[in-house]
Amino acid sequence: MLSLVVLISGGGSNLAALIAEAEHASYPARIVAVGADRDADGLLFAEQHEIPSFTVPLSSFETREEWGRELLRQIEQWRPDLVILSGFMRLLPAEVVRALAPRLLNTHPAYLPEFPGAHAVRDAMQAGVAQTGASVIIVDEGVDTGPILAQERIPVLPGDGEDELHERIKVVERRLLADVIRRIADGTIRLEEYAR
Ligand code: GRF
Repeated sequence: MLSLVVLISGGGSNLAALIAEAEHASYPARIVAVGADRDADGLLFAEQHEIPSFTVPLSSFETREEWGRELLRQIEQWRPDLVILSGFMRLLPAEVVRALAPRLLNTHPAYLPEFPGAHAVRDAMQAGVAQTGASVIIVDEGVDTGPILAQERIPVLPGDGEDELHERIKVVERRLLADVIRRIADGTIRLEEYAR
């Protein structure tokens, strides 16, 4: 049974989906804590499911490095097997990535390496592409540059607004993430192969 810590910054709909998945007795992972860099709306899902949570606001620290060290300390208290970034909108300091890698995963709403960064869906729309995608990666010290564990193409439909497209992408992200975690649990994905 893998222990997961999930980090969020926003609404947490992907967190909610992972909570629902993990509540199936047959799922080989459980969420032991949820962390956030702010008083994120998604923390309500943790509260509703009696999952412990913590917030480490960047604004409470003099430097990003100090913030990162406190965030890492709070994460490691739970001794997670995997840390999942799920709509976490901060770049982690390299020291934090190094401490957690390769057990640190992120979902991204694009077909990486296409459209990295915080505005992937908007960027895809502005580029006028006919298809985009969703990806699950191991976080490295770059911006969405880590090894790709799973990804899938998603069409951009005529009349799509950013929100409609993003919601369609999130549905795929949730399925890819749940499957990647399952494959790590059963050994078909071996994260140690990605260790530096
Ligand atoms: C997801 O698309 C995630 O990939 C991106 O932000 C979105 C989070 O959505 N980084 P939510 O907060 O889980 O609804």
